[in-house]
Amino acid sequence: MTLDTLDLNLALLNLCVSIDVTVIHESSDCQKELKVPMTNIIPASVYQRRDGLTAEQFYVQYQHSIDNPDVFWGKQANLLDFSQSWQQVYTGDFSLGSSQWFVGGTLNTCYNCIDRHLPKHGNALALIWQGEQESLVKRYTYRQLHEQICRLANVLTTYGICAGDRVGIYLPMIPEAVIAMLACARLGAVHCVVFAGFSAESLANRFNDISCRLVITAEQSIRAGKTLLLKQQVDIALTQCALVKTVLVVSAGQNSDWVDGRDIDYQQAVDQASTDYPCVMMSAEAPLFILHTSGSTGIPKGVVHRTAGYLLYSALTFKVLFDYQPGDVFWSTADIGWITGHSYSIYGPLANGATVLLFEGLPTYPDASRCWQIIDQHHVAIFYTAPTLLRSLMREGDGYLVNSSRASLRVLGTVGEPINPSVWQWYFEKIGQSRCPIVDTWWQTETGGVLIAPIVGITPLQPGAASQPFWGIAPALMDDQLQVLTGVASGNLVIQQPWPGLMQSIYGDHQRFLTQYMARFPGNYLTGDGAKRDEIGTYWLMGRLDDVVNCSGHRIGTAEVESALIAQGDIAEAAVVGFPHAIKGEGIYAFVTPKSGVLPSMALKQALIRQVASIIGPIAKPDVIQFTENLPKTRSGKIMRRLLKQIAAGSDDFGDTSTLTDPAVLTQLLRQREIED
Ligand code: PRX
Repeated sequence: MTLDTLDLNLALLNLCVSIDVTVIHESSDCQKELKVPMTNIIPASVYQRRDGLTAEQFYVQYQHSIDNPDVFWGKQANLLDFSQSWQQVYTGDFSLGSSQWFVGGTLNTCYNCIDRHLPKHGNALALIWQGEQESLVKRYTYRQLHEQICRLANVLTTYGICAGDRVGIYLPMIPEAVIAMLACARLGAVHCVVFAGFSAESLANRFNDISCRLVITAEQSIRAGKTLLLKQQVDIALTQCALVKTVLVVSAGQNSDWVDGRDIDYQQAVDQASTDYPCVMMSAEAPLFILHTSGSTGIPKGVVHRTAGYLLYSALTFKVLFDYQPGDVFWSTADIGWITGHSYSIYGPLANGATVLLFEGLPTYPDASRCWQIIDQHHVAIFYTAPTLLRSLMREGDGYLVNSSRASLRVLGTVGEPINPSVWQWYFEKIGQSRCPIVDTWWQTETGGVLIAPIVGITPLQPGAASQPFWGIAPALMDDQLQVLTGVASGNLVIQQPWPGLMQSIYGDHQRFLTQYMARFPGNYLTGDGAKRDEIGTYWLMGRLDDVVNCSGHRIGTAEVESALIAQGDIAEAAVVGFPHAIKGEGIYAFVTPKSGVLPSMALKQALIRQVASIIGPIAKPDVIQFTENLPKTRSGKIMRRLLKQIAAGSDDFGDTSTLTDPAVLTQLLRQREIED
């Protein structure tokens, strides 16, 4: 953000106006006209910050963070307790992808999230767990959580886990998930959580990628009244993971198919373990965790986050963006298997001594009032969720709001995808009763914490816009010719300066990190997202520019789905694209060409869907499968996905098709699509 934009933001502080800005893409790849939606700007004064931060202070501090990042981050590091202080805030070469933060410092993440709160806040609530059944509630004070973490750390040590070892975690949203992650952090082990909706095949790939020897799982999970057999998936996965020797199982009392010598009852083991386990102090740069995310190739990337930089960034963003105050109950509906669950259900809040609510269950079950009742029941002050959930709740009608007051709410947040202005308005007016600001947080698994978001009480709120960069974040828009675009523009969103939350590497493949993120726009981190900046400097996110679909706020690599479809055996070729979907944001649309002699049929479609669910997981199941004999290709044989996206969206506005080998394919595909409809 330049000083001009800064002034504009200050000038806008108490404005409430309508804007309608048209922006033309300047990049060759995206020559479409984009209209920023016509929306009311809600004045920042709708919310009074409780931490006293003023707009002037925020913007002065922002400029300082960009001009003097070392001084800025050095001061912010006081948020953390180091056992040995660092000598240098930052060293490295951003353009070469080599950054080190708080060089020479040592600390322990679990100490920062738990132990240091014990003397004064040991009896404060750290965790409230709400099960799917209303009566199932567990509460842990910081002291109780500490005890459980120490016990588990002892168990992990007994089974040979040391600092630096990787531990696989495949758990539902239960307290043991938080305990497991923090127990790893306590002893310096690197956790790798796999979302409990991923299939056995995905699990095996991830466990093998990190070469883990120990896995923590649960026998089952309950969702919408149905029992999901998690350990069964682990058992299948482990037939392909020879290195895994120990599985700690949170038992539901079934103990079915127990593998002697490998499977250990979690509860029995921790009950026998000591409640004392000293924190292992780690280098500031030691990896804290690995989390896989989809990319544009078929192989998920193991994003590595470092200890000090990640923790500082998640803690600071949590505190400032949600205007967190002691005593606030914070609830994020994101699963701990995603980065939001890591940064804002565990590390950011606990480093601040907050109370976190964890909910195991479907937020729409037994009906669409569940979230609001939980908010009342546990006095949630800050509620953070994804637009996809809001869309599905809004669809059910406002009747589900009448039995809750939601009076405890102070701040609302969204994450994962752009929020439709109409949904934003509903969230603001109905859920927050026009008094709770909405923080639309834009960020990524790779960025560790939020990079772009309105600052509540400071930034006027523009429904649908993530708005403005956080301290230390220098966004820019660039065209495909590497030119920085100024003023009103749209293009590739890049970040021009390092910040402590940025991933350290891709596990086992640093070159892939460099190629994917640092090479295309030298000296900048490439986000892979398109964005536009309007007349008042507000950033509007426009979605992925790579071959990744954002489905219900989750990234699904189209190449991964294509490989899964082809692995079914009856398909010669598959091309997968995203398309606008009323609830999911983007749905998955698969164009498939059967092998010769194979007839398209409903049974084949179902087999393909089953195949994707079993190779990746149910989240990646295609919403539409269209059989086709041909795909639109260039003369060099490259599939023109741009055209497939148009077809999937039901548009015949194809633009330039001169590089296409056979333009008739398009008419054919459109005709077939009509049949599909
Ligand atoms: O395309 C952006 C979208 O989600 C992507 C990151 O996905 P993931 O790594 O799974 O992390 C999701 C949770 C942080 C981004 O590249 N995205 C995330 N938040 C927003 C968003 N798009 C628009 N607005 C947002 N607030």
